[in-house]
Amino acid sequence: MKLNIAILPGDGIGPEVTNQAIKALKAIASEFNHNFKFTTADVGAVAIDKHNDALPEKTLELCKKSDAILFGAIGDPKYDNDPSAKVRPEQGLLKLRKELGLYANIRPVKAYKTLLDKSPLKKHIIQGTDISIYRELTGGIYFGEKHTSEDGDYASDLCGYSREEIERIAHLAFVAAENRSHKVTLVDKANVLETSRLWRRVVKEVAQQYPDVTLDFLFVDNAAMQMILNPKQFDVILTENMFGDIISDEASVIGGSIGLLASASVGDKYAMFEPIHGSYPQAANKGIANPIASILSAAMLLSHFELHNEAELIRLAVEKSLKLNITTPDINSVVNTVTTSNVGDFIEDFIYNPKDTNLNFKNIHLGQSTII
Ligand code: IPM
Ligand code: MG
Repeated sequence: MKLNIAILPGDGIGPEVTNQAIKALKAIASEFNHNFKFTTADVGAVAIDKHNDALPEKTLELCKKSDAILFGAIGDPKYDNDPSAKVRPEQGLLKLRKELGLYANIRPVKAYKTLLDKSPLKKHIIQGTDISIYRELTGGIYFGEKHTSEDGDYASDLCGYSREEIERIAHLAFVAAENRSHKVTLVDKANVLETSRLWRRVVKEVAQQYPDVTLDFLFVDNAAMQMILNPKQFDVILTENMFGDIISDEASVIGGSIGLLASASVGDKYAMFEPIHGSYPQAANKGIANPIASILSAAMLLSHFELHNEAELIRLAVEKSLKLNITTPDINSVVNTVTTSNVGDFIEDFIYNPKDTNLNFKNIHLGQSTII
């Protein structure tokens, strides 16, 4: 298959983790005879520094003419600590999502067997967790009218949703549930918010078209508690933009590290793949960032184009690296000599030689000794 992939590394650890995902994709292309072409463009704080624009026109154009986008991370503390900054890196990502109509953000959360002891949560609670979060991505409070009074002492953000915005992502969530454990949980705050009551009404209607799928409802505060009390009860979680942002960071604890969580942002025309983690500026260029979320985002990219065997091989490589402890310090705090690119190299090697036990043996030692 021929694919033009736009690479938007962004800020902080974005470039180094994205590089590992590219290595994996190149290995896949070579092993399975695909033709992947990568073109890089600026977004976020780097783009503001260079072009005074968090999403330069050229970047947007590249995304529009590509088959898929691989996104790194966005954000820089120099903007976080200056609330008066007119241009902010995050605007680049939000504009990109809106312009490309990426209304559904899919975030899988899984408890890896080999990492059960690494999560701060008890093993028996997280074991067997397999959730797919469907977060609405182009509406709600993120995109409603924003206002600050002239004296600067009052501010508001409007949260609005239309029936159509709810319907289109609800259908995706139900279709996903049909192929999984047949359950959708709508997370909302319908006891307080009008928008949530609209979500309930519309989602109930959509549910009638999917008789094999059970629909239930949870208020977001309760859902936040249930997520760490009994995550196994969830199959597909459907929720609005802001609640999805919060609940997915919380859910990442189940996997053992936010550095493991990948996501796909899809619309009717375009698709972008991005780790859910941020730019982690304190870690940039230290070789300690976990590249797995980015590598698994690349696997989601492959699945999106129905390249399931290819995606599966990447997932297998990731599982192998976790099993062999070839992991960065966020997971492997005792043996922390494994760098971001060591993990990427291992996964690349595994894709080329999945059956080579020697290679794996060699790498075990690489991960556990001081020879790096
Ligand atoms: C995410 C991030 C973004 C969001 C930020 C960087 C704007 O937290 O993708 O979850 O809030 O959507
Ligand atoms: Mg977030």
